[in-house]
Amino acid sequence: MQTKPLEGVRACVFDAYGTLFDVSSVARGAQDALGDRWQALSDLWRTKQLQYTWLRGLGGHHADFWQVTGDALDFAMSTLGIRDDGLRARLMDLYLRIAAYPEVPAMLAELQARGIKLAILSNGTPDMLAAAINNSGIAEYFDAVLSVEEVGVFKPHPDVYGMAPTRLALANEQICFLSSNGWDAFAAKAFGFQVLWCNRFGQAPERIPSPPDGEIADLSLLPARLAR
Ligand code: LAC
Repeated sequence: MQTKPLEGVRACVFDAYGTLFDVSSVARGAQDALGDRWQALSDLWRTKQLQYTWLRGLGGHHADFWQVTGDALDFAMSTLGIRDDGLRARLMDLYLRIAAYPEVPAMLAELQARGIKLAILSNGTPDMLAAAINNSGIAEYFDAVLSVEEVGVFKPHPDVYGMAPTRLALANEQICFLSSNGWDAFAAKAFGFQVLWCNRFGQAPERIPSPPDGEIADLSLLPARLAR
């Protein structure tokens, strides 16, 4: 994998969930009710949420990410034998106030000061994304917040990645795409972006086309990876 700085990057486009925002912060926020089951619920919820996006995409049965997130939570709660409508409502509300990873605001400020355009490209609905970025106080940094709802299909459909060059009026290779989700990083590279995989959890490389240009352990390491 390449370790020298990426050349010619005019915009950084970020995945949202898992990359800018800590998905585990949601269930952790209801730890008082979930006890030591919070981590299991969190992991199952996230895994099912992504599976449902892929299944709906392949089957041609799109529903928005709010619906899919709720369906996945229902599956996870049912699997763990948790029946509690109030807790379900609380967890969905917490999803709207998901925490940004601690390094995110300073990293965005630094890139903005360097004149790099910033955008989000996410499965999330416009309402979910607006809630998350407003809650974290990072809305001011973004030139575009792109939701798959514009194209009506989830990642990794190429139409999703295609929104970024169109909206930012840039060529694919002028965009550096960042995702902590390996499959998303690989798919974005296959589409034609420059890609850094924010491999927060030290996961093994995916066995799908196409490997990203490099890896970083968290987003604080991004500015140094872009040539000046
Ligand atoms: C997103 C999911 C993949 O934000 O995390 O698009």
